[in-house]
Amino acid sequence: MSREAKRLLYQAYDYALEFLSKLNDRRVYPDEKMLKELKRLDIPLPEKPTDPEAALKLLHEVGLKATVTSAGPRYFGFVMGGSLPQTLASSWLTSAWDQNAGLFDTSPIAAYTEEISLRWLVELFGLPKTCGGAFLSGATMAAFTSLAAARNHLLNRQGWDVRKNGLFDAPKINIIVSEEIHVTNLKAISLLGLGSDRLTKVRTDNQGRMLVDEIPDLSGPTIICLQAGDVNSGCFDPFNEIISELDSDDTWFHIDAAFGMWALVSEKFKHLAKGIEKADSWSIDAHKWLNVPYDSGMALVKNEDALRSAMSFGASYLTPAPGQRRPTDYSTGLSNRARGIDVWTALVTLGKSGIAEIVERCCSHANYAAEELSRAGFEILNDVVLNQVLVSFGDDARTDEVIKEIQRDGTCWCGGTIRKGRRAMRISVISWATTKEDMKKSVEAMIACARHVK
Ligand SMILES: Cc1ncc(COP(=O)(O)O)c(C=O)c1O
Repeated sequence: MSREAKRLLYQAYDYALEFLSKLNDRRVYPDEKMLKELKRLDIPLPEKPTDPEAALKLLHEVGLKATVTSAGPRYFGFVMGGSLPQTLASSWLTSAWDQNAGLFDTSPIAAYTEEISLRWLVELFGLPKTCGGAFLSGATMAAFTSLAAARNHLLNRQGWDVRKNGLFDAPKINIIVSEEIHVTNLKAISLLGLGSDRLTKVRTDNQGRMLVDEIPDLSGPTIICLQAGDVNSGCFDPFNEIISELDSDDTWFHIDAAFGMWALVSEKFKHLAKGIEKADSWSIDAHKWLNVPYDSGMALVKNEDALRSAMSFGASYLTPAPGQRRPTDYSTGLSNRARGIDVWTALVTLGKSGIAEIVERCCSHANYAAEELSRAGFEILNDVVLNQVLVSFGDDARTDEVIKEIQRDGTCWCGGTIRKGRRAMRISVISWATTKEDMKKSVEAMIACARHVK
């Protein structure tokens, strides 16, 4: 490696450490002035090369200002984990290795870490040993992949080969989701040609759980999408009841368990997911509660053949590798980042007890926030069963103003949502980095902001 290349990489490392060392003290979201820095990147497309050190310096200077501190301990927006130091380290190594995870031939380390991690995940979640799995960019693509397997498998049972014949004139598939289904599942359904307006939306209870009695009587091929961890309330659909009642060879149960799956690792919370192991497929994010860097999600599918036959493609130059995992046979892409490496690192370094500790700590922070906000006179709109808190600061307009004020203040960051027709602020605690002190500081800032708004 040249001296210049080495210098550049050391420089990037220094910049990264400078950023990371400020995580605790930075504003959580850039202010207007900081965002103006972005313009510095928008120069005319250079005719000639730019000095890489100068380009890196510019990126660092702009990035330090116009970067959301979601890697820090007081980011409670959406449902976004941070990166554990060890998974950031493995991700740096993965980038340096520049592995193409498509085939065993393109990267033995990528294929092998996928294989081991999948085995560990199946064990960790108590799923059937028959499961196959794919490493993907996140839960959206995991839903897409799982539902592609579901669609093809159910239609195959009707004598219809989707891969050859497409969907024109195919037998109908019923699709059942709850009215609170995470929107990315609808995206996956529509990308798969199943039509997001053709499905049946089932009403939910006041927490967002699917109402079993409202599921219509259906016959023929049916996909039922359920949720482990509602994006707003954190609740779980009643899997045990629904699956026991409706299970048949023509029904495929998919569970969006983007973050809720990790609750299974905790003795304290696994009761929420009773019956989850009876489903046919699960979409899970590693960049949420496992706290690995973006992007990282997994699809687990009980019938490995259904997954492989939906996703694999061959070509003469793509050498088969008997007895070796070919990641592309299970995932959407051919060239892929070697995501199994970070997942392996997280699993090996945390172990079961480390994952459970993060889950339980986050949930205890969420409870603390709910209790303090309620004590301060604000209304908590959900049962805080996991790591999600929904709070109203009064009427919709006032709640919106308070959310804006909290975002302006910059101590922490929370977003808004609509909960059963009411505006609410969402607090999602999912980072390994959040301490009790962070939660205290954040809740104090929330209360001060709320009192400040007239
Ligand atoms: C419940 C749920 N499902 C699906 C997704 C989509 O996941 P991703 O952004 O990794 O594609 C999210 C992301 O917030 C989620 O919370």
